[in-house]
Amino acid sequence: MIAHVLISEEAIASRLASLAREIDAVYAGGEIRAVGVLKGSVFFLTDLLKRISTPVSVDFIQVRSYAGTASSGNIQLVHDLSMDIEGKDVLLFEDVIDTGLTLRRILDLLSSRHPRSLRIAALLKKQLPENADLLVDFLGFTIGTEFVVGYGLDLDERYRNLPYVAVWNPKT
Ligand code: IMP
Ligand code: MG
Repeated sequence: MIAHVLISEEAIASRLASLAREIDAVYAGGEIRAVGVLKGSVFFLTDLLKRISTPVSVDFIQVRSYAGTASSGNIQLVHDLSMDIEGKDVLLFEDVIDTGLTLRRILDLLSSRHPRSLRIAALLKKQLPENADLLVDFLGFTIGTEFVVGYGLDLDERYRNLPYVAVWNPKT
């Protein structure tokens, strides 16, 4: 079912090292409130945070598209943050930006709580017109529109623990 490896373990590690340097430069002298979007971002978040030296606290949020109306982009909050983000420098971690609807809704929700700053770190962004205006502050890789699994990304909850990102192809 895995067609081919798209991004190797080595390529991910090397990109994360560069992203970590960028993040440390941007937040120099400050403190980061990392917010992971469950569950996909967990692998990316932990591997990246281990490489940064800026002080950081970690929290998580989980959302779900309303059944039947996924395309409307309405989301249901499954698990909310455990800490207040008002006045904090929030760095939101997402696994993949597809249409961007999920991320937009989460950004709206978090913005309404008045963080001092709100930036985005995403492992992957698909090349789609729908998400073209969504600016990612720290982006791992731009990919095509293929469905991918591994390194946190799932297909019906499977494959998250693959150490690489692979293209999933039902025909193989
Ligand atoms: P969006 O709202 O369309 O941007 O979708 C974002 C969410 O859909 C991600 O957080 C993933 O959970 C899921 N998703 C989108 N594309 C993929 C993929 O290629 N593989 C696995 N999950 C995906
Ligand atoms: Mg998923």
